[in-house]
Amino acid sequence: MRIAIVGTGYVGLVSAACFAKAGHHVTCVDIDSVKISLLSEGRIPIYEPGLAEVVAERGVRKRLAFTSDAAVAALTCEIIFLAVGTPARRSDGHADLSQVFAAVETLAPSLQSGAVLVTKSTVPVGTGDEIEHLVRNLRPELDFEVASNPEFLRAGRAIEDFVRPDRVVIGAQQQRAADLLVRLYRSVGIERIRILLTDRRSAELIKYAANGFLATKIAFINEVANLCEKVDARIGDVASGIGLDGRIGMHYLQPGPGFGGSCFPKDARALVKMGEDHEAPMRIIETVLASNDARKRAMARKVAGLQGGSLRGKTFALLGLTFKAGTDDMRDAVSIPLAQTLIDAGSLVKAYDPVATDRARGILPARVRYCTSALDAAHGADAIVIATEWDEFRGLDFQQLKARMRTPTIVDLRNLLSETEVRANGFRYVGIGSADRPPSDRPAVAPQPRSWKRRSGLRSQVEEETITAAE
Ligand code: UDX
Repeated sequence: MRIAIVGTGYVGLVSAACFAKAGHHVTCVDIDSVKISLLSEGRIPIYEPGLAEVVAERGVRKRLAFTSDAAVAALTCEIIFLAVGTPARRSDGHADLSQVFAAVETLAPSLQSGAVLVTKSTVPVGTGDEIEHLVRNLRPELDFEVASNPEFLRAGRAIEDFVRPDRVVIGAQQQRAADLLVRLYRSVGIERIRILLTDRRSAELIKYAANGFLATKIAFINEVANLCEKVDARIGDVASGIGLDGRIGMHYLQPGPGFGGSCFPKDARALVKMGEDHEAPMRIIETVLASNDARKRAMARKVAGLQGGSLRGKTFALLGLTFKAGTDDMRDAVSIPLAQTLIDAGSLVKAYDPVATDRARGILPARVRYCTSALDAAHGADAIVIATEWDEFRGLDFQQLKARMRTPTIVDLRNLLSETEVRANGFRYVGIGSADRPPSDRPAVAPQPRSWKRRSGLRSQVEEETITAAE
């Protein structure tokens, strides 16, 4: 097929590369001509593991075209995906759809009969109807359709999520668009059983409901982690203990400093607004957002608390600046409020990130000092704070770190490291979701679960530790 994709962010580019790899001809459109010229030279302006390799494949390169001229795409393509940004409006949290409607207005005059416009961007329920009205007004005679095909790609794993999705959601009002999109996704190798066909509005809401639920799960486990610290329970075992229940599931129960990224915060805020607009308040999501924002702010207090409350004159090595590992995206990253609070309190922040240091310079406070390695950042530090779970931080050389630091303290906001190993290397270790106390008065083996039956075949953390201890 001949496909156009408007918007060359990680969603648009990953979709284009995967459709081209499946043999389709894809025209990528972006108003950013600098980006288009970079892409035309085969250079990928975003960090998405594996994307550059796919785009570089000869078979893919020759089926990918890049242009700033949307009319070209509309004249030659039968399916036109809208994958432009829909950020949260600063004023009121609603999704900003200006890029969506600007793209539609640019495309409309050139749309050919039978065109199918597909929103892949995350758009509030009813946006498909508005796009349909807009095109109808601009081109009353045109035979076209508007469908919804929300994406569920995780930054850092976008290609895997595209080619092996749990499901593809297609929201269409007429069978022709549905059939065309099913044929497209079947050609990418998606089994028919994984393709959910529904109406446009349901498809638009599925995206928000999915992100809202995942954000809720994270906020929930983070609050349970807080409680664990107060009642001296261990969040790793508690999360395993609930996650092994097939009705709950182990995913998205990893406690952290609070969720960030380009999606969860903005989609949750947009969902709250949708609820308000339609007198169906989303009170749980309102609470999730408030809980998450409070948690991010609490992380700085957690660090301050370890320094006897006074941060003035202290030095912190901040490891990991992105909102999660595997991406260079810093939107809503906890490193932003964390660095700001530490600096406002008179500390020195030495920051290191494997991929986002350059991007961070324009985002973090001016007084942050950037380092080229974790060791460099640790030099003279009163504490290391791990804010993002980059694999590189799993292999830190503790003795080299200790030799450089003023005081050997590691605050692990991702529970990335083994507390036992860190303490064995002479550090004070502070993770999340367990009481901050020396190992001497900890039970040697985590308490065994009573009448716990192995149903999923998945070893719990308790069992892993027990077996390890036994070995
Ligand atoms: C998310 C959705 O997962 C994806 O389906 C949607 O298309 C886009 O938004 P993304 O934001 O890229 O993807 O990252 P994700 O891996 O979902 O993590 C989101 C945030 O939650 C990150 O800050 C991450 O650190 C945090 N998180 C995730 C946790 O704190 N705990 C978890 O168990 C999982």
